[in-house]
Amino acid sequence: MPANTVTLTDTAELPEALIQAFVSAHQIAVLTGAGVSAESGIPTFRDARTGMWARHDPMTLASPQGFEQDPATVWQWYQWRRQLIAETRPNAGHYALARLQQRVPVLTLITQNVDGFHQLAGSDRVLELHGNVHRNVCSVTGKVIEADWMEQHSEVQPPPSPHHPRGRARPGVVWFGEALDSDLLDNAFTAASNCDLMLVVGTAGAVQPAASIPVLAKEHGARLIDINPDSNELTRLADWHLVGPSAKWLPTLVDELTATD
Ligand code: OAD
Repeated sequence: MPANTVTLTDTAELPEALIQAFVSAHQIAVLTGAGVSAESGIPTFRDARTGMWARHDPMTLASPQGFEQDPATVWQWYQWRRQLIAETRPNAGHYALARLQQRVPVLTLITQNVDGFHQLAGSDRVLELHGNVHRNVCSVTGKVIEADWMEQHSEVQPPPSPHHPRGRARPGVVWFGEALDSDLLDNAFTAASNCDLMLVVGTAGAVQPAASIPVLAKEHGARLIDINPDSNELTRLADWHLVGPSAKWLPTLVDELTATD
């Protein structure tokens, strides 16, 4: 099927049809990826030069097997990421999505990011498909480990888990080969099926099941806006491709909605 996507490179030229789709939407779903946090200074995963997976093997650092083989290396990498996140802040894209949630009757924000920046910027009810890096869980039971337990232990090795004799603390994120939380995923699929408009922002669409969420929205008749400096499989599905950084496009779109109030 040939792509029918309208490509826009300049915020000054928002087409009327896009503005209408945006301001008339009652239910909006948003899927965000690493690109949204890129302008806060957090590297993406698949950028060929600066991406995490260009420099590190994902199976070593983000899989249960990698953790079993070398827990200290995995732990230290996550400690480094936590530090990076702690030193940076949400950007204009995150804040724009938080403003959007105040304006739209139903907005479901689905993210693959684990940095917590959407919440920090003021969004709530965020569906964190891949977990949250600030949380620690027991490697055997999956139970959350409280912060005061973590504070009593060293930073170099993953601390023992208080919930299981063979368990260790591990970051509360989803690793390769692990299942997503089924309630979260159901909620994301429901939002995609019911929305009039879906924004796909800063994701390469390379990881399932997240990448199937915009496909589902499209199948159920939603209009799709893809915000990304590059193109990928999801761009081909989009009605509009807004080429460029999310910190530029998201505030522009939300300002447009405010202007029509
Ligand atoms: P990727 O690194 O795969 O893709 C990032 C996307 O952001 C690319 O399409 C870039 O073109 C785009 N991008 C870069 N800078 C941008 C900017 N300033 N504004 C908007 N877009 C920009 O990241 P994800 O698609 O989020 O999973 O990756 C999905 C999952 O793969 C991650 O959650 C992670 C990873 O492995 C796990 O760790 C389980």
